[in-house]
Amino acid sequence: MADKLIIFDTTLRDGEQSPGASMTKDEKLRIARQLERLRVDVIEAGFAASSNGDFEAVRAIADVIKESVVCSLARANDRDIARAAEALKSAARSRIHTFIATSELHMEKKLRMSREQVLEQAKLSIRFARNLCEDIEFSPEDGYRSDPDFLCRVIEAVIVEGATTINVPDTVGYGIPELYGNFIKMLRERVPNSDKAVWSVHCHNDLGMAVANSLAGVKIGGARQIECTINGLGERAGNCSLEEVVMAVRTRRDHFGLDVGIDTTQIVPASRLVSQTTGFIVQPNKAVVGANAFAHASGIHQDGVLKARDTYEIMRAEDVGWSANKIVLGKLSGRNAFKQRLQELGIELESEADVNAAFARFKDLADRKSDIFDEDIIALVGDESVTHEQETYRLLSLEQQSATGERPHAKVAFAVGETEFHAESEGNGPVDASLKAIESKLKSGAEMLLYSVNAITSGSTESQGEVTVRLQHGGRVVNGVGADPDIVVASAKAYLSALNKLHSKNERVAAQG
Ligand code: KIV
Ligand code: ZN
Repeated sequence: MADKLIIFDTTLRDGEQSPGASMTKDEKLRIARQLERLRVDVIEAGFAASSNGDFEAVRAIADVIKESVVCSLARANDRDIARAAEALKSAARSRIHTFIATSELHMEKKLRMSREQVLEQAKLSIRFARNLCEDIEFSPEDGYRSDPDFLCRVIEAVIVEGATTINVPDTVGYGIPELYGNFIKMLRERVPNSDKAVWSVHCHNDLGMAVANSLAGVKIGGARQIECTINGLGERAGNCSLEEVVMAVRTRRDHFGLDVGIDTTQIVPASRLVSQTTGFIVQPNKAVVGANAFAHASGIHQDGVLKARDTYEIMRAEDVGWSANKIVLGKLSGRNAFKQRLQELGIELESEADVNAAFARFKDLADRKSDIFDEDIIALVGDESVTHEQETYRLLSLEQQSATGERPHAKVAFAVGETEFHAESEGNGPVDASLKAIESKLKSGAEMLLYSVNAITSGSTESQGEVTVRLQHGGRVVNGVGADPDIVVASAKAYLSALNKLHSKNERVAAQG
């Protein structure tokens, strides 16, 4: 039997650390459920000690996830570890992932600790964690840039204390496949008790090699766990992308000889959900999940594929969850059909009141758009008017006028809590006028870093527009997403959604820094 490769997903922890990608508890829960459908082995649900919001999200995920192991990150100190254990209390299977930096640079400049202090701290924290949880992962942060002799001492010591997984992060994405693979191999050969733990790789993508480095860590180094995120989400250039690494191991099983337990048909739905939730759009030419990943435009390729698919295709689109846009529901669909479709999409709303709110939004949408696709439903349940989540700011109505040669004008009605506001403004275009109208009353002072519009379903101007607005205020960066067949309305929704996120002060400490 082939060895199993453990897929450890950290979209909800390392992925969420990406500026603007912060998610609410409900959003994280929805993604965790999709990760379980995808059958990832471990879900890193958050960093419980970093904020109350993260603690609650880890706890909520631990409550509902039954198949995957649920993990929380913790710095190597008793308080963080106890907090992680507390958040994971109800999990069917739990893991505590604790870390401390081991590179000279990080120890001296960031931690201001000596080697001996770091070694001692690592040992004490694993000893403490082992009393609270059986499954303990240890990461020497910036491990790849650490002195190998010192790193071997630390790893040997934490395995003696009971660490069950040893993860070797390339925290800054400095690795080169051959070198990183050999680094893991060297550690495994030199650490005397290396066979007592599962070895794991965790690569960042600063030089665009996170996937290649992770695969080398497996092939050359003998690691049996890969840490990755959906769409490669993550700080700076992101993390190793789950879809790429999983499809590489599966498609080239002849080379890797390893099994992954992933249900690959859930990859595209997971990618869409993460992209729609965070507003981080997937580039069209992204491997596996990009809109063009299976599109053949040139005549020669099209001809080849029609004659024999494998002339130009090494994977089948349907195996990773691509399906032709399917009309799922329309204007005449009833509440039961809608509820069933939610179930088929794995969307669980908290109460009947939430289902009713979602159904009302669906009816409203179906009045304006004849065909409703799965993507429309996903966008619709993410709408704050359905989740009621942190919904301080709500759009009530929007009216705008624009004509060639005239300056556009917008009138917007919105609610802040229970209070209704009416505002109007002119602008360069209808979107500008609408957002200026909102700002004329709110005076949020937020700086807009990004505005982007995307069609939710491709191929027709009938599609809903999905707008992402990234705002920065007081050192925080958030993304708001809004969807509507009218892109001006979608823009106002996205703007208010971003303000809602800025309003929910979920301050957290950084995992690295
Ligand atoms: O990149 C990194 O070093 C991390 C650790 C906290 C595991 O994410
Ligand atoms: Zn990381």
